[in-house]
Amino acid sequence: MGTSRLPVSLRDTFGAQRASTRRQLLTREHKRLRDLIFVLFLLRWTRKFLIQLRGRGVIGSVLEAYTYTRRTLYGIFLRLPGIRGRVELEVSETLLKLEKKLVPSGPGVTRYLTLPAEGWTTDQVRAELGKLAEMEHTRWEDGCVSGAVYHGGDELAQLQTEAFGRFTVANPIHPDVFPGVRKMEAEVVAMVLSLFNAPEGAAGVGTSGGTESILMAVLSARQKAYAEKGVTEPEMILPETAHTAFRKAGEYFKIKVHLVACKAPSYKVHLSSVSRLINSNTILLVGSAPNFPHGIIDDISALSKLALRKKIPLHVDCCLGSFLVPFLEKAGFETEAFDFRLKGVTSISCDTHKYGFAPKGNSTVLYRDEQLRRYQYFISPDWSGGVYASVGIAGSRPGALIAGCWAIMMAQGESGYITACHKIVGAAKQIETAIRSHDTLRADLTVIGKPLVSVVAFTSPTLDVYDIADAMSARGWHLNALQNPPAIHVAVTLPIVAAADKLIRDLEEAVREKREAEEKRVVEGKGRKGGAKGDMAALYGVAGSLPNKSIVVQLASGFLDTLYKA
Ligand SMILES: *Cc1c(COP(=O)(O)O)cnc(C)c1O
Ligand SMILES: *[C@@H]1O[C@H](CO)[C@@H](O)[C@H](O)[C@H]1NC(C)=O
Ligand SMILES: *[C@@H]1O[C@H](CO)[C@@H](O)[C@H](O)[C@H]1NC(C)=O
Repeated sequence: MGTSRLPVSLRDTFGAQRASTRRQLLTREHKRLRDLIFVLFLLRWTRKFLIQLRGRGVIGSVLEAYTYTRRTLYGIFLRLPGIRGRVELEVSETLLKLEKKLVPSGPGVTRYLTLPAEGWTTDQVRAELGKLAEMEHTRWEDGCVSGAVYHGGDELAQLQTEAFGRFTVANPIHPDVFPGVRKMEAEVVAMVLSLFNAPEGAAGVGTSGGTESILMAVLSARQKAYAEKGVTEPEMILPETAHTAFRKAGEYFKIKVHLVACKAPSYKVHLSSVSRLINSNTILLVGSAPNFPHGIIDDISALSKLALRKKIPLHVDCCLGSFLVPFLEKAGFETEAFDFRLKGVTSISCDTHKYGFAPKGNSTVLYRDEQLRRYQYFISPDWSGGVYASVGIAGSRPGALIAGCWAIMMAQGESGYITACHKIVGAAKQIETAIRSHDTLRADLTVIGKPLVSVVAFTSPTLDVYDIADAMSARGWHLNALQNPPAIHVAVTLPIVAAADKLIRDLEEAVREKREAEEKRVVEGKGRKGGAKGDMAALYGVAGSLPNKSIVVQLASGFLDTLYKA
């Protein structure tokens, strides 16, 4: 209003002057803001840099950078014209061979690619199911497969099938329609909680398997850190031997994963490395009891102390240990602390479908308190389909599996599991002792660490250990190949218990055969270690030496594609 009385020219000059001071002010503000952003940027990167240095040390960081560079350069090399074509050709040839092995073809094979126009009679379906069950396969029935079939015996299998039959249509998403299923699932979780000495107020849920149990525990930890501390760039610290489901959780839920070495001779996670990697973004520490590769139990007591001191959740992966680890002591074996009695342990995954002998597709995840369980819930209050609430990943779920699990656990009881633990861990110890003491085995094999449960892993300082695995395959055995370091393992199951003596004899034979081949090679002074390569030696021999594993990724993706070839 004041300015309206000024002469036009004056008003203009005045206005211009004001505009120019304003511009100056603005530029100054602008500059200050720019400086501030720059300082914040510097601070952020300096902080990241310092955290990296503290976490991995100077040498560790340089090594990390070196590995990264080598991987990237090798990746670029693989994509050079000329090289790329060769690689693609090799990959597709390998995949073709794989397909021939996995997907039956030829004139004798009828494939069903569309619905039968008229439905089959039940007899027809039964006959075909019979043929499918009898297809030629590696004989898990004779105890020749490491892990894989965690079977509790024929009688239990029969009972399980009966339980399935009674609850074929049941779905726990409708607890009012299937109250029995709700009751059974709650009871299974309660029983597993008590097995792991859960404190008052602890809670758990049922899941479709170990992977889902782990995904849920990680999700809960991430949500907790976000809700209670505002963490938006979550990180977690894993022993490198922890199950790969944790890396999957990292990818799915956008959590940065730090791997920590598990070095010889104990092969347990290196504690001060874990401690150094902890920072304000850390949402979870992890330990295995035991881990899959070597069957070693990490130092959970020490991890628990660290977790308490740093106020960070600690997950203990007992998926494999499941119904063995809690019974070690009662079965008369040496054990270590691993459960909720350690105050820092906030969650535990335990697979009912491994040594619990429940049907496949069944596991539990346990939390120290109910709030932690809530962090994994999904609730949608305003969906047009109604208020929706689910505990985990699945919506509808098979009630039949819950009934199968409950029936098996009740039929086994504590005494049944103690007996099973006695047999399984006993056989594992027998295999371990043989490797450590029989002359032929001791000379060429080394047991990894000091396994306390059902897995015995070994390397060979003198022979190619994958050759030995292939020689075992030739004798009908299916052992698991491990890498970093090259090794193989046997995960003892009930079917293997009866075959343990034969396994040891065959292993001796396989080692002797490879030793002789090796001696011949040395005498003749030519050829590669151990002579012609079998499947496992070929795959892991090549894969182990590649700085960038994109070829392995291509092969594995192709393998997954093959699974869906009709
Ligand atoms: C088997 C296993 C899991 C989970 O695997 P699923 O196949 O998803 O049940 C997790 N951790 C360990 C150590 C395991 O051996
Ligand atoms: C291989 O290298 C490329 C880049 O050159 C990179 O993008 C890719 O992630 C690497 N793959 C693996 C599996 O290391
Ligand atoms: C068993 O398996 C079913 C199906 O995967 C799952 O819904 C249930 O939660 C599992 N756990 C228990 C304890 O029943």
